[in-house]
Amino acid sequence: MTMQAETGQAPGGGGRYAMPVRFLHWVAAVLIIATIPIANIMQQEGIERSTQDLLFILHKNGGVIIFLLVVVRILWRVLTPAPPMPASMPDWQVAAAKAAHWGLYGMLLVMTISGYVRVRAGGFPVEMLDAIGVPHMVPRSDSLAETAQAIHSNARFILVALILLHVGAALQHAFKRDGVFGRIWPPLGR
Ligand code: HEM
Ligand code: HEM
Repeated sequence: MTMQAETGQAPGGGGRYAMPVRFLHWVAAVLIIATIPIANIMQQEGIERSTQDLLFILHKNGGVIIFLLVVVRILWRVLTPAPPMPASMPDWQVAAAKAAHWGLYGMLLVMTISGYVRVRAGGFPVEMLDAIGVPHMVPRSDSLAETAQAIHSNARFILVALILLHVGAALQHAFKRDGVFGRIWPPLGR
């Protein structure tokens, strides 16, 4: 096996994340970007009950899948070093990108765990987990549910701000064609 295959080096310098990392990034990105409007619509007054139920089911169970994907990505990230950034990138940008990535991972954990606690402490189902008999792990408590709800509701602003920053920076790199966008794209292939 060549060094190129082992390190996943992209041609033309820099490097590319391994295929499973790229694939998980884009699956998670689509789910996360979809779940925010779903959450907002499901809480609107006056929408049909059956639509509301469906959106709640999608939001809660989709959120559990996002949690699992984030945990796998964090483990992967801790166990395998990220490919080096292009040499042309200033140190402050490298540091900012790293901080934003860990901020995203952190806020995704805050969002998914607070959502889960809000639902379980409130005595509501998480259909997918209930179907396979996963224990609730959270006591039934109205005050805990309220606290978790407040965290869930406020933390979204930080998450959305980080996503906007991240996507803005990514697009700027894509236009500059400095090799950063190619670290995470395409989702499949070498
Ligand atoms: C990254 C994952 C998640 C994101 C981005 C997200 C985002 C949101 C947003 C933006 C809201 C609206 C908040 C408001 O209007 O105050 C919301 C509400 C809600 N979310 Fe999530 N959520 C996520 C994961 C979860 C998970 C895993 C669960 C449960 C298993 C969950 C359960 C809920 C519930 C029950 C509500 C309604 C809260 C209420 O009672 O007012 N969410 N979510
Ligand atoms: C909710 C959506 C998203 C989340 C939570 C997210 C999260 C992340 C994280 C955590 C990384 C770092 C990988 C690591 O080292 O562990 C990353 C890399 C990257 N993401 Fe996203 N991402 C999202 C959406 C997007 C979108 C829509 C784009 C493009 C427009 C994008 C472009 C990139 C690029 C170019 C990289 C590689 C940058 C680098 O290695 O510094 N991401 N993303």
